[in-house]
Amino acid sequence: MHSQTGVEIPGITANPRVVDVVQPLIDRVQDLIREKNVSYDEWHQAIHFMMDLANSGEMPLLMDVFFEATVDAVASAASASSTTAIEGPYYVPGAPMLEPPCVMPQRPDEPGEPLVFSGTVKTPDGKPIVGALLDVWHSDATVPGTYSNIHPGQPAFNLRGRLQTDEQGRFELRTIRPAPYRIPDQGPTGRLLNALGRHSWRPAHVHVKLTADGYQPLTTQLYFQGDGFLDSDVASAVKDDLILALEPAGSNGGSHLTLRYDFQLAPTNH
Ligand code: BEZ
Ligand code: FE
Repeated sequence: MHSQTGVEIPGITANPRVVDVVQPLIDRVQDLIREKNVSYDEWHQAIHFMMDLANSGEMPLLMDVFFEATVDAVASAASASSTTAIEGPYYVPGAPMLEPPCVMPQRPDEPGEPLVFSGTVKTPDGKPIVGALLDVWHSDATVPGTYSNIHPGQPAFNLRGRLQTDEQGRFELRTIRPAPYRIPDQGPTGRLLNALGRHSWRPAHVHVKLTADGYQPLTTQLYFQGDGFLDSDVASAVKDDLILALEPAGSNGGSHLTLRYDFQLAPTNH
C-alpha cells in the first residue's frame, strides 16, 4: 500500500524503516516550510546549498557536525563499555603499527608540548584485556590544528598510530599535545555555521578507536581541562567524563604532560 495515497501500486516495495524514519522527516520539513513561510527564493537557495555541499565533498563533515553526536548518544545508551564519542570525518584506516616504547609518527621538528598518553584496557569487572588494539589519531599543535592525510602540509599518517596493550592490559604512547581544531570556514559547512551565528571550533582532543577479540569495539575522544571550547564544541560532542587533566611530569631531565585514561570494553554478546 502506498503510504500517502492508500493505493496499491505494483512494483513498489516499501522499506518499513524508511517509512518509519524518513517519512516523518519529510513531514516535518513540510510543516516547517508552512510554519516559517519559506519563500521560493529561500527554496532555491536551499537547493543551491545542497548542490554546493555535494560538490565540495563536505557532506560527511556537515553530517558529523550536526548529527553524529546524536547518533552516538543513541548507540552508547545500550553499551556497558566506557564512554563513547563521535568518530568525526578524519579517521584513516591503516595507521602505522607501533612497538614499545611507542612513539607517535611525527616530523623531526614536530611543534607542540610532549605528551605521554597512558592507561589500561579492562573488562567491566576489572580484568586486563591483553593485546587490545588502540588506533589513535589527533591534530597537530598548530592553531587551528590540522590532520595528516586530510589537510595539506603533513607527511602521510603523521600523528596517527596503532598500539597494543601489554600482559597487564596497559598501554603508553609518546606524542604531542594537539591544538583546538577549526572546521574549514570557506566551504558550505562553515558558511552555514556563520549564518547560524555559530563559531566553527572544536576543543583539542585525542581520538581513540579500540578493538579486541571477543569485545565490543569502542570509539571515543579525550579532551583537556581548561580548553576554551569545551562548552561550545561545534560538533556538540564533549562529555564531562571525557574531560581529563593534563598533569605535568618530568623524568631524566626532560619534561612532558601526562594524559591518563582507563578504558573498559564490554564483551560481545553471543
Ligand atoms: C573531529 O573530531 O575531528 C571532527 C568532528 C566533527 C567534525 C569535524 C571534525
Ligand atoms: Fe578530531
